[in-house]
Order: sequence, then structure tokens, then C-alpha cells
Amino acid sequence: MTDTTTASPTSSSRDRVLIFDTTLRDGEQCPGATMTFDEKLAVAELLDTMGVDIIEAGFPIASNGDFEAVSEIARRTKRATIAGLARAIPADIARAGEAVRHAGRGRIHTFVSTSPIHLAHQMRKTEDEVVEIILKTVAQARDLVEDVEWSAMDATRTPLDYLCRCVEAAIKAGATTINLPDTVGYATPGEYRDMFRAVRERVPNADRAVFSVHCHNDLGLAIANSLAGLEGGARQVECTINGIGERAGNAALEEIVMAIRTRGDVMPYETGIESQMLTRASKLVSHATNFPVQFNKAIVGRNAFAHESGIHQDGMLKHAETYEIMTPASVGLAKTSLVMGKHSGRAAFRSKLDELGLNLTDNQFQDAFERFKALADRKKHVYDEDIEALVDENLATAQD
Ligand code: KIV
Ligand code: ZN
Repeated sequence: MTDTTTASPTSSSRDRVLIFDTTLRDGEQCPGATMTFDEKLAVAELLDTMGVDIIEAGFPIASNGDFEAVSEIARRTKRATIAGLARAIPADIARAGEAVRHAGRGRIHTFVSTSPIHLAHQMRKTEDEVVEIILKTVAQARDLVEDVEWSAMDATRTPLDYLCRCVEAAIKAGATTINLPDTVGYATPGEYRDMFRAVRERVPNADRAVFSVHCHNDLGLAIANSLAGLEGGARQVECTINGIGERAGNAALEEIVMAIRTRGDVMPYETGIESQMLTRASKLVSHATNFPVQFNKAIVGRNAFAHESGIHQDGMLKHAETYEIMTPASVGLAKTSLVMGKHSGRAAFRSKLDELGLNLTDNQFQDAFERFKALADRKKHVYDEDIEALVDENLATAQD
């Protein structure tokens, strides 16, 4: 099959998009998804090997366990930058700095809410007070590490003028990455893209920072919004394996990576991710968090490369590109599966018999196919053993 993932434009004309994985922080905030220390180390090692640029390893002030995990991941990681999260509170920032100090490259990721609803009800602070907090806390973080990310929590529900004021303050105080999260998954793609465009145009020192997207999936728009943010000029994507995260989750890393790879013809970006490791990463995180991956989940779900309808199976047997836009190998899966069920046609049934080494005459085939259809009407899953059994039965009846 032609790999459509190598479509134009050429690699050199694409912008590099940084992948910031927050499976171990925002992902772990998903109710019921806590991981043990060893599981976190295993996930971090795999993320590093697969080419994640920044691993947000945890929230060091949250617990001693989180602090230990971030510190150990910082010590062990070979390539990726290790980030620790901190609220805009001096003790949080100091703790995050301590945890990431062992990293080859350490980042403090500090955030504060900027929307009116958060300022009024959660922070109980005025706009001016929050700007003062940004100036102080980002400067404190910058004294500890070179690499400081600042996030405007609930950016998408923040008036643009005030958002620009906060971003300008954060960059002035030394932030090197500016993240504008869609914290409650409220934005639409057009709005999210336009917010990045406007902030980057209006903030005078915007070119001194990398802009980042961070999208939640409350309306199922996390991937669409993340890609729209890239169109608006962001060059870092925050995401999690299998899309785990608060409430409906975060943008899924595997979906972002494969959308960029597969539609390189219309999205001139590239990531450093080895996509063949995506299936392995999905399985590891699902196992560590005890969170099943939904069957129809894009890229890594059990059905993502499975075909049952007769028309689709017939097409797939003739040419894989008829119903697949990426190869299973490109995400680390051995092969496409043609699921045998009541929708399967003769072509798929014949191919299954060939695969099982069962050679039937035309009459035997006809008889076996009818028995298979009758069985598939009664049974949800028709396994290889069922087919072998019905062929045996078929041959035995013919001999009687
Ligand atoms: O969703 C969010 O706003 C966050 C911040 C801490 C970046 O996770
Ligand atoms: Zn988040």
C-alpha cells in the first residue's frame, strides 16, 4: 500500500511541532487513573523513547509520591525535557524546581486562572492582582530554571484584551512557552485558531515565546481545536496517551500525531514521534491506569483497523487503500483484521479459508458459506475455530 503519510509538502518545508505529553499529570487527574511509581517510570521511559519532546511528569507539590516520581523521571530521562506543574504560589514553584533540577532539561510549568468566572469565584482576585502574581511567580520560576512555561487557565473564556495583558506580563517576566488552554473544552476550532492569531499579533513580545495548545474534550472537539490552534500559530501541543484526562479527557497524542502525518498535504507540520510505537504506548497506559480503550477509538482502538462489512472486506482484499487511510504498521499494529460476521461476504470467507489452510471444492465452499452465514446470524463473534468446525462438519456430512 502506498503510504499516504508521506504526502507533500516535503519534510524540510514543514514546521516542527513540539509534543508535550501530560499523561502523567493531567492524564493521571482522570478519576480512577492513578499510577504507581513504577508504572509512571515505565510510561515516562516509553514516552522518551518514542520521541516526546516534553514529558509533564507530575505536580510535585501535590504529594510526596508525585514529587518522588517527577524527581526520579528527571534523573533517568535521557532525551526529553521534564516538566513539573506548579500553581502560581511560591511554595509550589520551589517544589517543582527542586523536582526537575536533576533533569538534563528541566521545565517549570506554572499557571494561573485568567477568566472572569475563575477570578471572581475561585481566585477572588482582581485583574491587576493576577497580573502582579504572574510577574512575580514567573520571575521566581525563571530564577530556578531557564525553561518556564506559563499557562492562562481558562484562556478561552478570558476577554482578549486581558488575556493579551497577562501573556505580555508572563513573557516579560521570562516565560519561554505560553500555553492558552481550553480548560473546560468550550471553544470551537475557529474561535481557538483566532485567539492564537490575535494574541500573537497583539502582544508586542509574542515572538519571544513558543505558543502551546492544551485542549479538553468536553464537546469532543479537543483534536479539532488543537489542530486549529496550530493553524493560529501555536507550535506545541499538549496531549495524553489514549486521551485520558480530567472529565472527558485531553486531546489524544496518537490522534494528533497521526492526523499530522496522514494529512501532511494540508497541514505543513511534523512531529518527532515514532508513530510505530503508538499501539504499545496505548496498551501500556491502558494497563497502568486500568482504563480500557474504547473499541472504536481512533488509531488505537480494537476496531480502528478492523473491517466487517462485506463491501469493505471485498475492497480491502483488492486494495488496502480502499478503506484504510494509514497502514496498521504505521501505528505499530501487525495487520488489518477482517472480522468474520454476518456482514462478511464470499471474498472474505474465501480469504479466511485460505488463511486457515482449508481447501474446498466449489460445492463444499458453497455449503460451508451457507453454514457460516447461518452461524453468524446466531452468534456475535465467529472465531477461526468456529469456521474450522463448520468446515469439518461440512466435510463429514459430505462423506456420509
Ligand atoms: O486544563 C488546564 O487548564 C490545565 C492547566 C494546568 C494547564 O491543565
Ligand atoms: Zn488540562
